[in-house]
Amino acid sequence: MAKVKSKWICSQCGYETAGYLGKCPSCGSWGSFAEELSYDEKQPNAAANEFVNKEKPTLLKDITIGEEVRLSTNISEFDRILGGGFVQGSLTLLAGDPGIGKSTITLQTCGRICESGKKVLYVSAEESAGQLKLRAERLGINSENLYIYPQTNMENVKSQIEELCPDFVVVDSIQAIYSNNVPSSAGSVSQIRECTNLLMHIAKSKNITTVVIGHVTKDGNIAGPKVLEHMVDTVIYFEGDKYKSYRMLRSMKNRFGNTSEVGIFEMHSDGLHEIKNPNDLFLNERSQVATPGSAIIVTNEGTRPLLVEIQALVGSTPYASPRRVTNGIDMSRLLQILAVLEKRVGLNFSKQDVYINVMGGFDVSEPSADLGIALAIATCARDVVVDSQTVIIGEIGLSGEVHPVNNIGKRLKEAEASGFKQAIIPFANEVSDKFSKLKIVKVKRLMDAIVSCVSSQS
Ligand SMILES: Nc1ncnc2c1ncn2[C@@H]1O[C@H](COP(=O)(O)OP(=O)(O)OP(=O)(O)O)[C@@H](O)[C@H]1O
Ligand SMILES: [Mg+2]
Ligand SMILES: [Zn+2]
Repeated sequence: MAKVKSKWICSQCGYETAGYLGKCPSCGSWGSFAEELSYDEKQPNAAANEFVNKEKPTLLKDITIGEEVRLSTNISEFDRILGGGFVQGSLTLLAGDPGIGKSTITLQTCGRICESGKKVLYVSAEESAGQLKLRAERLGINSENLYIYPQTNMENVKSQIEELCPDFVVVDSIQAIYSNNVPSSAGSVSQIRECTNLLMHIAKSKNITTVVIGHVTKDGNIAGPKVLEHMVDTVIYFEGDKYKSYRMLRSMKNRFGNTSEVGIFEMHSDGLHEIKNPNDLFLNERSQVATPGSAIIVTNEGTRPLLVEIQALVGSTPYASPRRVTNGIDMSRLLQILAVLEKRVGLNFSKQDVYINVMGGFDVSEPSADLGIALAIATCARDVVVDSQTVIIGEIGLSGEVHPVNNIGKRLKEAEASGFKQAIIPFANEVSDKFSKLKIVKVKRLMDAIVSCVSSQS
């Protein structure tokens, strides 16, 4: 029996030391070290050894691609995020908050994949077969070739995968599974790393498409080190407001497709339903009467434009230093926009609290939202309104100029289809399409956009 010794591992980046350190020399995080056990002698890495001497280099021109490279989930929103379905033999990490519905969406996906005659293995390390059966009944899944395997030992999982040879494997979750090669407990950094490694080898060598489910910690990181994200081919976040019924799938890393795609679902008792027209969802809550400090923007997350309402609240502050609070946009973005509004438009916020909220719990990271945010703030500060039938698109530069954005045609089409009457867009954007119901106003500078909003009311 190999001797067991302890070591300290950074839970953020996987850096190892012999003793405790307050600050990680590798990634700089504080208090991230946890003690873990490891075998004294180097354990032969079973997975790696198996593949030594088996694979030979091949000429690129001699490599043939199988007929079916993509495994469709038969859920169009999910396929779109993946770039057309799971790539065969790929390893995908599906991460999300506890209880958000990770097991639900994966079980639904398994059911759909089974319908196309594929063999699917669902390894459940957290729930019993009976619990899964209950969920499957609620979701109306009754497939012939869906295997459920409640197991927490990685070696057993490996041998069952080899025996069954399924097309698609789900491991729910990577934090609950352990390997005999590592003495520390399930969910520790070295366990997660070892198990992911083993799954990666199985996926690549047997060409089995694999999905692992991972939990997200309180600060929004995937539990376990960043190495987990580096190891897998695709990282998908499943997120949403617990208090609302819709959920979003967002791809953060994709070796075989576009990132920044979002898929939107709604949680019902019979599982998640796709939302084909999300604009209804994000704009529905909006009151039809325009209020100061509200602006509609068209963001372009991935390939689909989305209409989102931005709300701003500006008010004099009782504090010595005014507050800046954002919900759904980056704080540094807000500070930059405020600076431009002060310097180029002449609004003064040094004694004003500023709050920004993106409605619907949506995160907007795209710079094309700048102009909408600036108009929401400016109209709130001056107590005027942006017309409720107008959408605002544009990026703002530091000298107050409005920069062009990509995919303007698509964005405008979406706005017209959602019934908007006017769009304020950057002057430099060429619009080749014709819009019969949408009036297009081009602006060069932030000031022009504010003037065109205010003048249309007088
Ligand atoms: N009968 C039901 N009707 C409607 N929604 C339900 C019902 N049962 C469960 N849910 C929803 O499913 C969610 C739990 O889903 P699921 O177990 O798939 O989450 P999970 O992300 O896998 O959780 P965990 O992190 O615990 O594994 C609940 O938060 C709830 O919103
Ligand atoms: Mg679960
Ligand atoms: Zn570190």
